[in-house]
Amino acid sequence: MTTFDAHPRSSLIVALDFDSLSTALRFASQVSDLVGMFKIGSQLFTSAGPEAVRQVAKLGAEIFLDLKFHDIPNTVAGAVLAAAGLPGLKLVNVHALGGTAMMHAAAQAVSAGVPMGADRPRLLAVTLLTSMDGKTVREVGIGGPPNSRVVKLAKLAQKAGVDGVVASVEEAKAIRKACGRDFLIVTPGVRPKSKAADSEKDDQARTATPREAIRAGADFIVVGRPILAAADPRAAAQEIVDEITSAK
Ligand code: C5P
Repeated sequence: MTTFDAHPRSSLIVALDFDSLSTALRFASQVSDLVGMFKIGSQLFTSAGPEAVRQVAKLGAEIFLDLKFHDIPNTVAGAVLAAAGLPGLKLVNVHALGGTAMMHAAAQAVSAGVPMGADRPRLLAVTLLTSMDGKTVREVGIGGPPNSRVVKLAKLAQKAGVDGVVASVEEAKAIRKACGRDFLIVTPGVRPKSKAADSEKDDQARTATPREAIRAGADFIVVGRPILAAADPRAAAQEIVDEITSAK
């Protein structure tokens, strides 16, 4: 079992998709008491480095480092080890397509990098990028329908010692069924009920509401623009937490 705080807000991960650390910090400090975690991805990490993690952690926030490592096992293990030593780190991820040996090396590193006595971060795998449809998956030589491939990759990740996956809401139910209750599922592409209209989906092809995501088995939902671009980010975050509460 995981040891994450049970308050509904703990299921909300807000993506800090900014290229400037000062902007990210200004935004994060505005909403940090309303959300469970902040996600730092390639954009902010490439511009500000591990200092981004240290500074966001200083706000008292927990962090999902979304760098989707994909390299030879030794290199990925080194990267995960370095990540696990950063303050506030709760989630870190790799690509399942890196294979069993790579995922296994990452799973070992995620425990090894943690200071004695501290709770280790959880390791997630990205199965197939949700931006890839049947055609793009075939183009890179992967056969079969993406949905069944996603479930197979989730099972492979679990067998390699990975704690969970990043997956779309559409895939969450099948993964929950295949991998059991304790496997973590993190779903992006979430839009609050008030922004579920097509015109407000940004570039996300398929979206679901927070309630639908939780009902489909998600442990965490990732939300970016509906909060980042809101006129009142605190109200937008609260609306999402309320939707999560209603689904639990
Ligand atoms: O702004 P929006 O809510 O669409 O942001 C979603 C966040 O989740 C972004 O940081 C995006 O990179 C990330 N993400 C995603 N789809 C995936 C994996 C990650 O949208 N399959």
